Amino acid sequence: MNQATSDILILEEGQELPKEIKYPPRKPKWYDTFKYIANPEQFCRQNLDNYGPIFNTGVFGGETIFVGTAKAIKMVFNGDSNYTEIALPETTMEMFGEYSLFQRPDLHRDRKNALAIGLTGRALEGYIPNINTIILAGLEHWSKIETLPLYSSVEEICFNVLTPLLLGIKLDDNDTAIFSGLPLSTKRELKEVYQTYFNGFYGLLKWKSPLTAYGRGLAARSKLIKFMEAVINKRRQEKNIDPTRDFLSMMLVSQQENPNGVFSDSLIANQCLLQLWASLYEISSLVASVIYQLGKYQEIREKLRLEQTKIIGKYNHHHQFLPEHLRKMSLLEATIKETLRTLPPSSTANRRLTKSVVVDGVLYPKGSTMIAEPRLAHIMPEYFEQPEIFAPERFLPPRNEDQSYQFIPFGGGVHACLGAQMAMTVTKIFISHVLSKFDWQLIGKPSFVQFPLKKIKDNYRIKLVHQR
Ligand code: HEM
Repeated sequence: MNQATSDILILEEGQELPKEIKYPPRKPKWYDTFKYIANPEQFCRQNLDNYGPIFNTGVFGGETIFVGTAKAIKMVFNGDSNYTEIALPETTMEMFGEYSLFQRPDLHRDRKNALAIGLTGRALEGYIPNINTIILAGLEHWSKIETLPLYSSVEEICFNVLTPLLLGIKLDDNDTAIFSGLPLSTKRELKEVYQTYFNGFYGLLKWKSPLTAYGRGLAARSKLIKFMEAVINKRRQEKNIDPTRDFLSMMLVSQQENPNGVFSDSLIANQCLLQLWASLYEISSLVASVIYQLGKYQEIREKLRLEQTKIIGKYNHHHQFLPEHLRKMSLLEATIKETLRTLPPSSTANRRLTKSVVVDGVLYPKGSTMIAEPRLAHIMPEYFEQPEIFAPERFLPPRNEDQSYQFIPFGGGVHACLGAQMAMTVTKIFISHVLSKFDWQLIGKPSFVQFPLKKIKDNYRIKLVHQR
């Protein structure tokens, strides 16, 4: 029997194909993976120009269909347990480990709901004063620098913000007591192990050896799990843990209250590892990209300063930096969104079809992999007026171009990003302070790391001008 929604026809085994269907154009090519990984934006743009927003490729082996239309993206985002399964490369799945949200569709909803309590809403609002204080302290160091290595300086501050927010510990290399009982003894060491873990994602050679990025990444993963276990043991010795203080506290208290619930010891350690990983690189690259984009547009910086003055006064009284302030920063929010549109950090939703489906007369055959690509959707003039122009106002009324399944930096559907609110909150606070303390000029054009997510390379510097 057919299962059809207004947009999607799901074909059951043996069912006859409807008449007049088309297949996605383009034959997979042996070099597709390399071309995509080397420059995903160029790969998407060239194929969009040649074949349109839906095309077949050989990316990551087999048949991988890239989709950029809203209807097809909607189909990809909403197929879980019905007609799709997660289709990340095997190496990536091992790097995530068995307690990531991608591994167990049957436990996904319960785990996601439980984790969301410590990463969104009220809990996140409660973290704001801390985020604020740590960013301000970090920016003090920027005041002493004239040409700033952009990404690494942002990452340093984000690391200091995110370790207390997620793990409830403040790592300070001058305070050796903090590291006692932990298997790593400096922040630098921890960051280096994280970097090796990061590099292991999308290591394409599935050979577990110190000679491969993947092998080194897996070894780093084990070290990080040991580190997280030691942090958890240390935190467990605290009396009266306040579940609203940080993400780990929330998980520990929830486990105490319900020992047979979602939060097993292994899940807690793995979630500490994964959420620090996701947030550190995703948020640092977003903040660095916003600073870079604003470096190009003096007039937008000025408009943002006017908005800041209206909301928080001429000088930012950081102790009174409240959730309402952040909610009112609509131009800043639109500017962050425009940065995510123009420099999306990653593709979304690698899914394999467990049944054939038809959308808009195009057949997506069972067994093929689908990638929903912001690098296609975000440059389509059907969805974004003059997509080549950096225009934050497209995300404000009356334009409101951030429509579901068209603006997709955080994915969508069941696997929509759990950290989107946190990314927005930290980025708003960071940029708000940078705008009030500095002006800046770009020095040339940066190059970008492209995988596993797009970020400005470490060697790129900007010139800082101290405002006040
Ligand atoms: C600029 C910041 C970020 C971007 C662009 C981003 C992007 C994404 C995307 C595209 C997905 C969907 C993947 C898919 O459908 O296969 C996703 C999922 C996810 N993200 Fe993020 N992310 C960001 C920040 C964060 C942060 C800060 C956290 C955690 C604190 C986080 C945690 C997660 C989790 C747990 C999922 C999986 C959700 C699920 O499977 O249900 N992300 N993210």
